[in-house]
Amino acid sequence: MKIIVTGGAGFIGANFIYYMTEKHPDYRLICLDCLTYAGNLETLTAVLENKNFRFYKTDITDRAAVYKIFEEEQPDIVVNFAAESHVDRSIEDPGVFLNANIMGTAVMMDACRKYGVKRYHQVSTDEVYGDLPLDRPDLFFTEDTPLHASSPYSASKASADLLVLAYHRTFGLPVTISRCSNNYGPYQFPEKLIPLMIANARQNKPLPVYGEGINVRDWLYVRDHCIAIDLIIHKGTVGEIYNVGGHNEMKNIDIVKTICKAMGKPESLITHVADRKGHDRRYAIDPTKINRELGWSPETRFADGIQMTIKWYLDNTDWLERILTGEYKNYYQKVYDGHKIK
Ligand code: NAD
Ligand code: DAU
Repeated sequence: MKIIVTGGAGFIGANFIYYMTEKHPDYRLICLDCLTYAGNLETLTAVLENKNFRFYKTDITDRAAVYKIFEEEQPDIVVNFAAESHVDRSIEDPGVFLNANIMGTAVMMDACRKYGVKRYHQVSTDEVYGDLPLDRPDLFFTEDTPLHASSPYSASKASADLLVLAYHRTFGLPVTISRCSNNYGPYQFPEKLIPLMIANARQNKPLPVYGEGINVRDWLYVRDHCIAIDLIIHKGTVGEIYNVGGHNEMKNIDIVKTICKAMGKPESLITHVADRKGHDRRYAIDPTKINRELGWSPETRFADGIQMTIKWYLDNTDWLERILTGEYKNYYQKVYDGHKIK
């Protein structure tokens, strides 16, 4: 089995590559990533030498380059993680999100059509559903909840989802979509809530909580997301959408307090700052469908996952520091000069 994984030098894509390498050591995994600020080749160090792994520094919007790789690799499955993923950045500069997230998806699907790929999987997000009110804990996102995106990021992901479904209906492309809640775990770029708070707490820096910190997110350990995608690409029904989430809703302020407690830091580090524009109030996934049809449920409890995540960041301060200082960007050149990658 040959699988193209786009965005594999990012947080979830890299965790997926490690999960798949362990679970299916005979599969060939081909990573396409253009190494934006969020892409870090160092994250993939442990698989770079694996004979069943290949890295291409490629932008998924570069049609000619993508077709050439498909021609060479003849993949069976494509899993599209590559995207601009940070809501705050999308508020500053929407254009790059439209290009990577929508045009990139179109190019990848065109390549799948041209080269007869057996399955295209789109890694989407619960943010395409918009948000839920804080005072209605009885409401959840199901796969039938209408799309109602709030930020340029989520609007770009919702647009891509519509395109994926259109390619299925119009061209018969064998697609699946997963819409997952907030992930946390190793290798997450320290601009996102959990790694940012761990990185700041470690250095006794202020912990910036947007607004009152009462917004709710539904946290899932990244490995559980990877397990869900593995199940969907092998056993999911073509044309279907699967929500992925573990019923683990928490207010932001409680996440930050949990991190302070686990790291032995005072809550006085918490600093309330201006709220995010259009800030979604609550996300909450109903995972009934994936549980019923594919037997998926999360394996890692938040209490364990957050401890493992904090420990991972504290054990990997070199990785973190190289990102914080910007030095991680030189890693590609170093490896490239050694001809380990394309
Ligand atoms: P990330 O920002 O950590 O990684 C994204 C990766 O994509 C980076 O390596 C980057 O270099 C690459 N990339 C971006 N644009 C590219 C392009 N044009 N061509 C090639 N590579 C490109 O993101 P993440 O948190 O790992 O998210 C991965 C996917 O999962 C995204 O599609 C995101 O929407 C989705 N998702 C994320 C979460 C979450 O909590 N992080 C939850 C649900 C869904
Ligand atoms: O729900 C899935 C989505 O989760 C993914 O699609 C996105 O790619 C991913 O980035 C994430 O989006 P969020 O906006 O929920 O994640 P973020 O870590 O940026 O913020 C989580 C919450 O914490 C949100 O309510 C904003 C708040 N926050 C965030 C940061 C970075 C703060 O209060 N302070 C901060 O410094």
